[in-house]
Amino acid sequence: MRSVETLISEDEIREKVSELAELINGDYAGNPPLLVGILKGCIYFLADLSRQLHGHCAIDFMAIESYDGESSTGAVKIRMDLATNIEGRDVLIVEDIVDTGMTLSYVAELLMSRKPRSLRVVTLLFKPGSFKGSCKPDFIGFEIPNEFVVGYGMDLGEEYRNLKFVGRLGT
Ligand code: IMP
Ligand code: MG
Repeated sequence: MRSVETLISEDEIREKVSELAELINGDYAGNPPLLVGILKGCIYFLADLSRQLHGHCAIDFMAIESYDGESSTGAVKIRMDLATNIEGRDVLIVEDIVDTGMTLSYVAELLMSRKPRSLRVVTLLFKPGSFKGSCKPDFIGFEIPNEFVVGYGMDLGEEYRNLKFVGRLGT
């Protein structure tokens, strides 16, 4: 097990999630979106964020695969699709982290083809240094340097997801 150095603490995450929820509540006043979580990294962020949103948000999930170890493979594929018909719905994609943006571009294009009323994106973390996608998130929690992070849902080889904070891996 490698050591993990805290990058964003549990308290900082909690505060940021509240701020994001406030922004989202303001934007969707009276008309809560369908939350589409991108598994598995979104699980804690979606759980915490959704409980601070006003109104009854429906929740669905997609599973996408684009990563192999610590670097993006560039190849994106769907492992599990939505169960919900999103046509005419206000959809909010919930991501743990947007790195190159390839996953998000792929998902956004796919969902747009299903004719939602609106499609927006919230991500807890964003790496501006490595982003080269076509779809920039509408709501961003933290911008972080271009390094690999784990915790609060994010993994390396399925480990470290259940850390309460976001950290960088030591040696
Ligand atoms: P992208 O397609 O390069 O933007 O990567 C998207 C997905 O890769 C994210 O939703 C994460 O699941 C995963 N990912 C990207 N960067 C990291 C990281 O630093 N730690 C853990 N997972 C990451
Ligand atoms: Mg993800």
